[in-house]
Amino acid sequence: MVKICCIGAGYVGGPTMAVIALKCPAVEVVVVDISVARINAWNSDQLPIYEPGLDDVGEEPLFSTDVEKHVFEADIIFVSVNTPTKTSGLGAGKAADLTYWESAARMIADVSKSDKIVVEKSTVPVKTAEAIEKILTHNSKGVNYQILSNPEFLAEGTAIQDLFNPDRVLIGGRETPEGQKAVQVLKAVYAQWVPEDRIITSNLWSAELTKLTANAFLADRISSVNSLTALCEATGADVTEVAYSVGMDSRISPKFLNASVGFGGSCFQKDILNLVYICECNGLPEVAEYWKHVIRINDNQKSRFVNRVVASMFNTVSGKKIAVLGFSFKKDTGDTRETPAIDVCKGLLADKASISIYDPQVTEDQIQRDLAMNKFDWDHPIHLQPTSPATVKQVSVTWDAYEATKGAHGICILTEWDEFKGLDYQKIYDNMQKPAFLFDGRNVVDTEKLRAIGFIVHSIGKPLDPWLT
Ligand code: UDX
Ligand code: UDX
Ligand code: ADP
Repeated sequence: MVKICCIGAGYVGGPTMAVIALKCPAVEVVVVDISVARINAWNSDQLPIYEPGLDDVGEEPLFSTDVEKHVFEADIIFVSVNTPTKTSGLGAGKAADLTYWESAARMIADVSKSDKIVVEKSTVPVKTAEAIEKILTHNSKGVNYQILSNPEFLAEGTAIQDLFNPDRVLIGGRETPEGQKAVQVLKAVYAQWVPEDRIITSNLWSAELTKLTANAFLADRISSVNSLTALCEATGADVTEVAYSVGMDSRISPKFLNASVGFGGSCFQKDILNLVYICECNGLPEVAEYWKHVIRINDNQKSRFVNRVVASMFNTVSGKKIAVLGFSFKKDTGDTRETPAIDVCKGLLADKASISIYDPQVTEDQIQRDLAMNKFDWDHPIHLQPTSPATVKQVSVTWDAYEATKGAHGICILTEWDEFKGLDYQKIYDNMQKPAFLFDGRNVVDTEKLRAIGFIVHSIGKPLDPWLT
């Protein structure tokens, strides 16, 4: 019987191993983490992450804090630990901090007595496999290690669907007989449920670069469409109509062209910064500059949103209640890593607004932590972060959209939760200060209907409210 051990019980490790456990009954699957709180949560009814369908996967892997025991026993070790952006030293603000990866690799070398296949799951800079290989082989005590890169392409909110039915599974390995044998071992695991033609193999460096490129391309599409939103607002074009017609070209495709207040999530910005840093290290400043623009447009989109709120509310939000609907970085997840809501709220707070936040999945503690945190501090394990962060006084968190909007001068919709489409906007309008503003950062509301109620509506990339023209 093959034993798989996954180090890191996070958004990737947890769901991925749950699906492997379900689909491969002959494989023993264990997920380990140094965070006792996280493992306890996985073993309770209150899972540490919200992911639709995860509860129903059924077959559960074992979750344990006994990292060394399970690594010792495993044949295949997936490493899915944090790779934050460095906050100090060489490459600060760009390069990936591989501290957690290196410590995991050294621990593997310390405890292993049998041959292992070590699989990179978390996104890492290109050539990380080489560094890990060196750490392992120089401390090997006769154990043979094969390193594979098997990047994860699941998106949060649809993780279970993506794992059940992936567009592709990519496995990169060394082009030696031992490397290729290891590739086949991992391929056999996925082949239990993924059609063979969707399991692709490549060399290690191609697999590592593919992950960064895939995320950079996806983020690029969003920045491309977002870059046109201001132009649409200025000219009277409608970004939804433009994106729809452009997306009908089969070479372009309609997916991932939704204009928004900006992209968030743990991967896009981090992976692009990684790509930028690698380009700079390889003497390619023009290429680095090209990718930096994707992030600049995204940052600009968030500050443009804040400017629009302040400017339209008579150039001041000081002391005004602004309701924020949605705080997670996208719908169907409670994840707030790099969510545009953080930058938007910080921008409004800088202009002395008083903010009332409602998100169906994000806790008050998490919101306060996020708003008190510095850039790039978010991707360190939760147990290393302060347990009771300072609370931001002008921020209140409610568990109801009606409560959040009561008495507010304006509403900002920052996540496209389905429930925001079905709210009773007449009731909301009646309980707000007038004029009642609504800034739709995700284009979820029916603009015409809300204008008919009396709202002054600003949507991303849509013609301006007639009230303003
Ligand atoms: C992403 C990749 O999609 C996934 O393949 C990879 O494994 C991890 O990174 P994720 O970050 O979970 O997944 O979510 P995704 O659906 O890609 O959305 C990222 C951000 O882009 C969200 O903030 C989302 O709201 C935003 N977005 C997405 C848009 O603004 N417009 C779109 O059209 C699509
Ligand atoms: C383009 C558009 O495709 C078309 O829809 C529009 O109406 C006019 O402009 P065209 O310029 O005729 O058409 O050719 P196209 O096939 O788009 O190629 C343009 C250039 O891009 C060529 O030099 C081509 O070699 C290059 N190209 C195209 C690449 O370098 N790589 C690719 O993957 C595709
Ligand atoms: P992802 O979104 O990639 O899954 P997360 O941040 O959600 O990332 O999860 C990474 C997990 O890895 C965290 O729960 C963290 O505690 C764990 N971790 C980090 N370093 C180690 C280590 N050396 N051994 C075991 N677990 C680790």
